[in-house]
Amino acid sequence: MSELNLILLGPPGAGKGTQAERLQDDFRLLYVSTGNMLRAAVEEGTELGRQAKAVMDRGELVPDDVIIGVIVEKVGAEDAQDGFLLDGFPRTVTQAEALEGALSELGRSLTAALLIDVDDDDVVRRISGRRVCQKANHVYHVDTNRPKHDNVCDIDGSRLIQRDDDREDTVRTRLKVYHEQTAPLVEFYEERGILKRFDGTRSPTEVHDHIRATLATLRLEEQI
Ligand code: AP5
Repeated sequence: MSELNLILLGPPGAGKGTQAERLQDDFRLLYVSTGNMLRAAVEEGTELGRQAKAVMDRGELVPDDVIIGVIVEKVGAEDAQDGFLLDGFPRTVTQAEALEGALSELGRSLTAALLIDVDDDDVVRRISGRRVCQKANHVYHVDTNRPKHDNVCDIDGSRLIQRDDDREDTVRTRLKVYHEQTAPLVEFYEERGILKRFDGTRSPTEVHDHIRATLATLRLEEQI
């Protein structure tokens, strides 16, 4: 397969970041997480971060025009030529159409939209126990994915923290926003024949194995 252009879809806490970490190890793809990118911008106090902070803390989406330009530029860049993995984008039909248009202008298209399915109660349980490392956003859970030493990242030794938008009331808003604005993308990509579904209630390793097997099958089909 010449290039693997992938997006990860699913509600907050479905395990998109967890799987992205693993898929980056499997394939040489440019990884872009809009959530991580926006949190870094908030931390650095940039103009983008200033615009995003209050919206993110409320659990709502930053405006399409703020995010689309940034992502379109990234997928067109040199380091995305062999493929990319987008986590958190697109999140609205407008964003999906903008991505489709930008790729089409480059003579490219998406290979697959990987949907990780988890129900709302699971989401709330998972997110309330999530901890992320301050340095590189490596993901843990206080019950199901504990670090070797309390509150310390196994990979880079930095401190583990709880995200500002992981409070239960904000998570409920994020879920509402997901169902209203992002869930329509399931049909959008189904219509284009590139939606692949994964049961996100399985263990992270099982979900990962299933995604890898699906991508391997796609590669084989292309060679036939
Ligand atoms: P973003 O950072 O993208 O948040 P999200 O989509 O809500 O997703 P999360 O990061 O919360 O969850 P995840 O699916 O990555 O799960 P994880 O792997 O961490 O966006 C944040 C905000 O930024 C948005 O609300 C919005 O304001 C803004 N934004 C971002 N993109 C935007 C865009 N395109 N347009 C507009 N605004 C945008 O896992 C969760 C927990 O579960 C962890 O503790 C993990 O250890 C555990 N876990 C993972 N997998 C499993 C499993 N299989 N079994 C058991 N536990 C598991």
